[in-house]
Amino acid sequence: MAKRSVDKAKEAKKDEFYTQLEDINNELRHYRKHFRGKTVLCNCDDPRVSNFFTYFAYNFEFLGLKKLITTCYKNQDIELFSDNSAEKAVYLIYEGDKNGDHIPNAEEIGVHPLKGDGDFRSAECIELLKEADIIVTNPPFSLFREYVAQLIEYDKKFLIIGHQNALSYKEIFPLIQNNQMWLGYGFKGGAGHFISNYEDVATAGNHKEGMIRVSGVNWFTNLDMQKRHESIILYKSYKPEDYPKYENFDAINVNRTEEIPFDYNGVMGVPITFMDKYNPDQFRIIGLGIANLGLSIGVLPYKPEHKKYRKEVQRRGAVDGDLYMMKGEEVVVPYARILIQKK
Ligand SMILES: C[S@@+](CC[C@H](N)C(=O)[O-])C[C@H]1O[C@@H](n2cnc3c(N)ncnc32)[C@H](O)[C@@H]1O
Repeated sequence: MAKRSVDKAKEAKKDEFYTQLEDINNELRHYRKHFRGKTVLCNCDDPRVSNFFTYFAYNFEFLGLKKLITTCYKNQDIELFSDNSAEKAVYLIYEGDKNGDHIPNAEEIGVHPLKGDGDFRSAECIELLKEADIIVTNPPFSLFREYVAQLIEYDKKFLIIGHQNALSYKEIFPLIQNNQMWLGYGFKGGAGHFISNYEDVATAGNHKEGMIRVSGVNWFTNLDMQKRHESIILYKSYKPEDYPKYENFDAINVNRTEEIPFDYNGVMGVPITFMDKYNPDQFRIIGLGIANLGLSIGVLPYKPEHKKYRKEVQRRGAVDGDLYMMKGEEVVVPYARILIQKK
């Protein structure tokens, strides 16, 4: 159900939802050591309502930050949640407590006008990006590819929120595969509640007033963390009958990450949720068994007789590059699989 709200948000470019302080705190506590002496930039934000600004300003001394910069994007659309549309875009600079009360006061926060609307791609925002060491925000999901490309281009450290679907984007997956970006600790139950005026289509039990529930959100980062060095404990031994081979690639299919056999040395297809537990010292990523990314690593196109059969039974139709298995006469296509191999 909640997935529908994300899809709708993407379609309509509904990017106005705000992160809760509790969620920021829950994730950020794992990366404290990275922040000492650093300049942090929170872009794609509105510092006047942003919990990212609150988090870093109030924890400035605790984290030992050098400087905090936040840029405000001036919304052109008055229908949107942020009602600051009439004002000019600004950026804020905070360099720590000056009067000894340990609270970021208005007179300690420098408010500077931006010439443009605060678009993260604008020259003036890129100048601020260059100055920063670590970028932390929840960027617009509709511009996620461009947003990440810019961080990589300027070789920045980052910790940002995105949707797990982004893992299979052709622009994003190679970064994951090359260990240039990985998943953070994430949200409880794989879903986040964000402060928003959009209609929440989550089931009643999950609904929180003034919030939308977005399932499948996660943190994406290139900051090292403990989880990344913890190995998955494997307990199942390989038996051919438990792990069918794909018809179009030399690998076995594993339905659950915890069922990865400890004694199989070949290539294995595992659910995309494996990325949550991925330790690059334990496994290497071979590729993604979906469509063109699949073809690029040698997943064979459908055999003609199977393609015909698949079209008849499934709505999406046969897409060459998708992994598939034969169960008797039946063509079985598992949901998105990452191909991995033990190191
Ligand atoms: C998902 S919201 C998150 C807001 C805030 N970072 C937070 O988590 O509380 C994404 C924000 O990006 C802003 N935005 C949209 N397009 C942008 C652009 N091109 N440049 C900068 N910010 C943009 C939106 O106005 C929106 O406030």
